[in-house]
Amino acid sequence: MRILIEKNYEKMSRRAAQIIASQVTMQPESVLGLATGSTPVGMYKNLVEMFRMGELSFKNVSSFNLDEYIGLNHKHPQSYKAFMDSQLFDHVDIGADQVHIPCGMAEDVNMECLAYEKAIESLGGIDLQVLGIGHNGHIGFNEPGSSFEARTHMVDLDAVTIQANARFFDDVDQVPRQAISMGIKTIMKSRKVMLLASGKDKAEIIQKMVHGPITPSVPASILQLHQDLILVLDEEAASLLAGGEGLYDTA
Ligand code: GLP
Repeated sequence: MRILIEKNYEKMSRRAAQIIASQVTMQPESVLGLATGSTPVGMYKNLVEMFRMGELSFKNVSSFNLDEYIGLNHKHPQSYKAFMDSQLFDHVDIGADQVHIPCGMAEDVNMECLAYEKAIESLGGIDLQVLGIGHNGHIGFNEPGSSFEARTHMVDLDAVTIQANARFFDDVDQVPRQAISMGIKTIMKSRKVMLLASGKDKAEIIQKMVHGPITPSVPASILQLHQDLILVLDEEAASLLAGGEGLYDTA
C-alpha cells in the first residue's frame, strides 16, 4: 500500500487526477473503474481541465462505474449516470458506448449483474479502479457484512449510507433503498486501486481501514491485501494514521 498525503482537498484532487492522467497517457486504451460521491468531484474537474488544455484524451478509454441506485433511470438527476455525465463524460471525448454503468431499471437485476461482470471481463478487466469510502467503510455500495467473494450484485443500503446520501435528495424518503454494486471481488481483481478520502469525518474510518483487522465489518479493510493500492488523502483524512517520519509520501 502506498499512501500519499496532500495538504488539502484541492491538492488531493489534483494528485488523483495526475495519477489517472499518467495511467491514460501510458495506456490510452485503459479500462478505468470510476466512483461517484462528493470526494472525486475535484478530481473530475481537474481531468476536464487537462482535457480542455489538450493534455489528455479519453478517446480510447473505457469506463465502468462502481454502482447505481435501483429504481432510478439514467436520466434521473440523482442517478449515478447523471452524476458522471455532468462531472466528466459530457465534457471529454469519451464515446457513449465506452461508458458503462449498471442499469438500475433492469427487469432482471441478476442478469444485469452478470452482464456487467462479463462486459468488464470482455475488455480485459479494470486497469485502475477509483474508490471513495463511506463512513462505515463501504466501498462502492459494499456495506459492512458484505462477502469478500461477491461480484456485481444487488445490495440493500445501510441506514448510515441512506442518511449520508440524503443530502443529494429532497428528503431521506426519496433515497433508494437498494443498489447494484460491483462486488469486493470485482474491485480486488482490478490491477490498480486508488482510494481517495478527504476531511476529518473520514479520519477514523481511514485509520481502521489501514491499521485495523481485515474484516467484512470494515469492507475497505480487504484492500490491505491488494497488491497495487494507492491511498490519496488530505491531511485531515490522514490525521489518525500512525505517525513515523518517512512512512508516507507527503506533499
Ligand atoms: C456513496 C458511493 C460510494 C462513495 C461513498 C462516499 O455511497 N456509493 O462509492 O465512495 O458514497 O461518498 P462521499 O465521497 O460523498 O463521502
